[in-house]
Amino acid sequence: MSTTYEPEGTYEGCPAYHFDNRVGGPVMSHQQRWDEMAGAHSGFRSTISKGYWVVTESDAVQEALQDWGTFSNKSVTALEANPKFLWIPEMLDPPVHTTWRRLLGNAFSPKTIAAREAEVREVAIELIEELKGAGAAEVLDAFARQFPTKIFMRMVGLPEEDLGQFLDWVHDLLHLTYDEDPEGLRQLAAMHAVSAYFDEQIALRREAPRDDLLSTAMTWEIDGEKISDSDMHAFCILLFQAGFDTVPISIGWAFYHFATHPEDRAAIVADPSLIPVAVEEILRVYSFVVPARKATTDVQIGGCPVKEGEMVMLPLSVINRDAERFENPTEVDLERVTNNHVAFGSGPHRCLGSHLARLELNVAVEEWHARIPDYTIAPEQELWQHGNMYGINSLRLQW
Ligand code: HEM
Repeated sequence: MSTTYEPEGTYEGCPAYHFDNRVGGPVMSHQQRWDEMAGAHSGFRSTISKGYWVVTESDAVQEALQDWGTFSNKSVTALEANPKFLWIPEMLDPPVHTTWRRLLGNAFSPKTIAAREAEVREVAIELIEELKGAGAAEVLDAFARQFPTKIFMRMVGLPEEDLGQFLDWVHDLLHLTYDEDPEGLRQLAAMHAVSAYFDEQIALRREAPRDDLLSTAMTWEIDGEKISDSDMHAFCILLFQAGFDTVPISIGWAFYHFATHPEDRAAIVADPSLIPVAVEEILRVYSFVVPARKATTDVQIGGCPVKEGEMVMLPLSVINRDAERFENPTEVDLERVTNNHVAFGSGPHRCLGSHLARLELNVAVEEWHARIPDYTIAPEQELWQHGNMYGINSLRLQW
């Protein structure tokens, strides 16, 4: 187990822990730790840095996500209550947030996304066919990260030849370990590079609009005003963060699950109509997003006496693996009938990209198993997951 939950007595009557969600650990250790904490407490105080609250009671987490008046998105970073940056729409509260969501709705609606299915499938098949003969691959780099990133770049209107560059930035921004980047300099450099890249893409479209999402967004008006370049920038950065890492992480978990549960793999290979249920179950059981909110007033939640301006962490895992909501909550059950999981969040900020993500995940699992139905994890592969968003670091499969 990771050592990210050292008990540190109490804080204002609440259990306190040296809890650092940024630290990685053995595969599944984060999800299992959330199970343990949710079993032991309804909330606790993390004592790292300036400190923040963590709610582990399932109903309280869901209520907080829906109560945007009390739990604001002005900050969504537990360690930084007063950030100097803005991500749109994630860091907006209603009513401005509602306007952005209405404008964005069309580009990410079930109908718009369904119309892309053939293209999504084609990209997946091409990548898998290239790999099939190799007999083994690090599947996160060779497939899981490339596939959704390619689709996303097309959708937003970014040149496909920048794919390699994008994947390098995602790696430096989100996946470097402390040893690889002790001072955080590589991460900072990647952040500046991504920022400069989007500034350039915005400027190019101001000069000559194209038939893509960025150009369309530039024509929108919010409160009677055209969207400024700085707001366009805040939108691009959020799309980059939200859209580039989440689907690869989920595909990684799907591979991990089917490699470690050959009976489930055999079932979906024999009957691909089970894949949509399997995908939802994998999203639920391996749940990896940990939203955070800033309290707008003094409030008691999960037993925590939160003060106005303090940060509250709201792990989705405690809802998705809650025994009161799901029978055998930690098991992927291919026969589960009702699965009202919250892997895509809850409340006004529920994932904008969920239809796209679901399509990509279903297509990835279908097309992979139609071509490479039988595989195992390479014996030398260490199984480790990142902190923050609990993706697997590296996954070498052989077939
Ligand atoms: C399996 C993949 C994905 C998962 C599990 C996921 C999960 C989430 C979650 C939990 C939130 C809410 C965060 C919060 O409450 O603070 C969210 C928000 C968001 N997601 Fe996703 N996401 C995924 C894929 C995507 C994709 C592919 C896109 C875009 C192409 C996307 C775009 C967004 C955006 C724009 C928001 C902010 C929505 C708002 O603030 O109103 N997501 N996502």
